[in-house]
Amino acid sequence: MNEEIEKIRQQALSELKQAQDAESIQELSVRYLGRKGRVTRFLRNISELPKEERPAAGKRANEVKTELESAFQDALAHLAEKQQEDEQAIDVSLPGRQPPLGTLHPITRTTRMIARIFERMGFGIAEGPEVESDYYNFEALNIPKNHPARDMQDTFYVSENIVLRTHTSPIQVRYMETHQPPVRIIAPGKVYRCDSDLTHTPMFNQVEGLLVDKNVSFGDLKGILTAFVHQVFDPQTSLRFRPSFFPFTEPSAEVDIRCVMCRGDGCRVCSDTGWLEVMGCGMVHPAVFENVGYDTDRYSGFAFGMGVERIAMLKYGINDIRMFFENDIRFLRQF
Ligand code: FA5
Ligand code: MG
Repeated sequence: MNEEIEKIRQQALSELKQAQDAESIQELSVRYLGRKGRVTRFLRNISELPKEERPAAGKRANEVKTELESAFQDALAHLAEKQQEDEQAIDVSLPGRQPPLGTLHPITRTTRMIARIFERMGFGIAEGPEVESDYYNFEALNIPKNHPARDMQDTFYVSENIVLRTHTSPIQVRYMETHQPPVRIIAPGKVYRCDSDLTHTPMFNQVEGLLVDKNVSFGDLKGILTAFVHQVFDPQTSLRFRPSFFPFTEPSAEVDIRCVMCRGDGCRVCSDTGWLEVMGCGMVHPAVFENVGYDTDRYSGFAFGMGVERIAMLKYGINDIRMFFENDIRFLRQF
C-alpha cells in the first residue's frame, strides 16, 4: 500500500514538471489534492487497510500531501515572478522612452538673450544686492528723502534705512564707486514693488545699462538702444524716444516700440495707442556723477532700465504677466 502513495507522489511531481502555465498547475492541484483528488482519496481509504499498516500509511500520506501543496505553491510563485521579469525586459525593437527634460524659464531665456545682445556690443555684466540701503536705492540717485519722486515707487521697507531694491539703478552707483571710466555694463536682477495686477507683479526683473566715457551723447544712447530693439524684435520695428522724467537722468526719455501685436493699428495690448513702452533711459544726471566722484567736465554717459517680463511678453505674445510666476508646467513647456 505504501508503494501506492509513493507512485502518486512520483506522478504528481513529474506532471508538475511538465506544467507550463498557472492553469495547468491549478488543475494538477485539484486532481491530486482536491476533494476527490488522488491523495485525498488515499487518505480516506486508510481505514480499509490492515490495522497495523494504518499509522505508517497515514503518516506518509500526510507528508506527501504537505510536500505537494508546497510544490504547487512554489511553482505558481515562480511562474508569476518569471512573468514579471518578462514584462520588465527590454524590447530592443521598440523606440526608446524620452525622459522628461526641463527647459529654461522664459524669463531666464529672455534675460540671457538681452545680455548676449549687449555683450556683443562690448558691455560687461555687473551685479548688486537685492536688499539695498536707502542710500544706494534713492539718495545716491538724486532721490533725496521727501523728494516727490519717491512716490513714483511703492517700496518694501525692511527697516528705516534698508529696502528691497525697487530698481536695478543702485548697481550703477555701486559700480561707479569702484570703477573709473570708461564704463560699459549691464546689470540684470530682481526688483520689488508693492504692485500687483495684469501687468505688474510685486517681484519682477530688470536689466540696467550704463555707459560712461568722454563725449558720450544722446545720439549714442539712441544708436545703442535702436540696435538693441532691432535685435530683440524685428529689424523693421519702429521706435520712438518720448520725453520723460527720472531724478537720476537728464534729459530723460521712455522708449516705445510699434506694437508688435497690431503693428500700430491699435489693439488691447497697446491700449489702442499703437505704441508699447519698453524701458526708461536718459543721460546720467551730474548729481549722480558727483556722488561717485566722477569729473563731470571730462565724462558724460547714459543709462537705461528695462522690465524683462515686459520684453518677454512682447516677444512671446503673452498678455498676463502672472503666467511667468505660476509655474504651470503646461505654460513653461512651450519654451
Ligand atoms: C525705472 O525703474 C528706472 N530705474 C529705469 C531707468 C534706469 C531710467 C536708468 C533711466 C535710467 P520704471 O519704474 O519705469 O523705471 O521701470 C522700468 C521698467 O520696469 C518699466 O518700463 C516696466 O517695463 C518695468 N516695470 C515697472 N514696474 C513693474 C512691475 N510692477 N511689474 C513688472 N514690470 C514692471
Ligand atoms: Mg515707466
